[in-house]
Amino acid sequence: MWRNFAAVNIAVIGTGYVGLVAGTCLAETGNRVLCIDKDSEKVRWLRQGHLSIYEPGLEPLFRRATAQGRLTFGVSLKEAVDHAEILFLALPTPENEDGSADLSHVLDVVHDLAQLIQERKLVVMKSTVPVGTAARAREIFLRSHCPAVVASNPEFMREGFAVEDFMKPDRIVIGATDPWARQILAALYQPFLREDHPILFMSEESAELTKYAANTFLAMKISFMNELARLAEGCGANIDDIRLALGADDRIGGRFLFAGLGYGGSCLPKDVKALVHQARVFQVPLRLAEAVQEVNTTQLDFFLTKILRHFEGQLSGRHFAVWGLAFKPDTDDVREAPALKIIRFLFRHGASVRAFDPEASANALKQIPDLEISSDMYQALEGADALILCTEWSLFRSPDFDVMAQKLKYKVIFDGRNVYQPDEVRRRGFTYYSIGRP
Ligand SMILES: NC(=O)c1ccc[n+]([C@@H]2O[C@H](COP(=O)([O-])OP(=O)(O)OC[C@H]3O[C@@H](n4cnc5c(N)ncnc54)[C@H](O)[C@@H]3O)[C@@H](O)[C@H]2O)c1
Repeated sequence: MWRNFAAVNIAVIGTGYVGLVAGTCLAETGNRVLCIDKDSEKVRWLRQGHLSIYEPGLEPLFRRATAQGRLTFGVSLKEAVDHAEILFLALPTPENEDGSADLSHVLDVVHDLAQLIQERKLVVMKSTVPVGTAARAREIFLRSHCPAVVASNPEFMREGFAVEDFMKPDRIVIGATDPWARQILAALYQPFLREDHPILFMSEESAELTKYAANTFLAMKISFMNELARLAEGCGANIDDIRLALGADDRIGGRFLFAGLGYGGSCLPKDVKALVHQARVFQVPLRLAEAVQEVNTTQLDFFLTKILRHFEGQLSGRHFAVWGLAFKPDTDDVREAPALKIIRFLFRHGASVRAFDPEASANALKQIPDLEISSDMYQALEGADALILCTEWSLFRSPDFDVMAQKLKYKVIFDGRNVYQPDEVRRRGFTYYSIGRP
């Protein structure tokens, strides 16, 4: 018998950025959550009381929930099935070579669950999955005579604000036709919706497509501003002024309007690609989404051209300081980070690099093992021909320009995030490049 608004036993399968935050926040409201991951090292680390990711605000919730035994970790899917009434799948859905989403992690677990689940349990897709995935999972359960019920519940959290987003979501999207599934999820999310934000019920297909639509729309805002910044630069306008004026129109909204190095991260690049791929399969090509991707790719080239031009095409033997490795501030996630693409480009051209990031160095080193890392932002500048700013961490916003001038070999800044005021840095004697500003 279902008890509305009472604590439930939950399992989260896949304890990465989404799974760990979701699991911890669900435990914070009183539920008993078992987080499962196939990475036994990660599970051991979490069991010892260490967080496996950097996410602002997560630590105190994690400490409280683990200390009180409401948040535990394991590796066994059977243990998850024995423990939980609701199982969330927060598994990776990386891109395949053709741009489609790789569903192998999700479907492997669904096949395993089909053998393990023997009574009615709710299996919730939290991973970002193409339209039809929940239906495929249901089909797998049906074929195995497994009584699991499937629902789609895409996640909209932003890394860097993930705890805030999960605890106070601006909407919850539930794709489920089964009334029992709807009732369970409505009750589970009730404590998170105290500010009267909506819970939106729809079909699984609509929920699945909503997630891709949201990410593609955000990517579109970024690509629009990046392309406009190139025009602004060409015709002597200032993208900062344009952004403020555009953002003041509440039909447009002020967020996601910053010109920069293009979108990165574990979601936008792969999700736009996957949507474009799905649309082609359905023979309804999404021209706008295709253009969004193209602008994003060429935006980095636009920035790299500034570096090449400054050094007259010769980067061999040059030495660069890089500030910021994470794909955005307040995360240690470096997946599809523009900084890593820039560093690889510099290496290919025979340059050397010393980088600093407040949180993401360890993850960057896993991707580029021979990258020289500095533990101090100013030390990273020592003897460099130029500084390249790749992530707008707060720490970089008001630096000591005198120390920078002393440490750098040449006072040259390539600002990929428009963090500094051009007049101000130029007044201090720096050669300064940014994006879309005169
Ligand atoms: N990162 C975000 O900000 C974000 C936001 C919204 C949605 N999403 C979506 O959520 C999903 C998860 O993303 P993420 O960033 O948390 O990924 P992640 O790579 O950080 O975490 C996935 C975890 O799943 C584990 N895993 C893989 N196969 C497993 C298996 N068979 N059994 C148990 N564990 C397994 C991995 O070891 C890893 O720890 C993706 O579909 C992503 O698109 C991510």
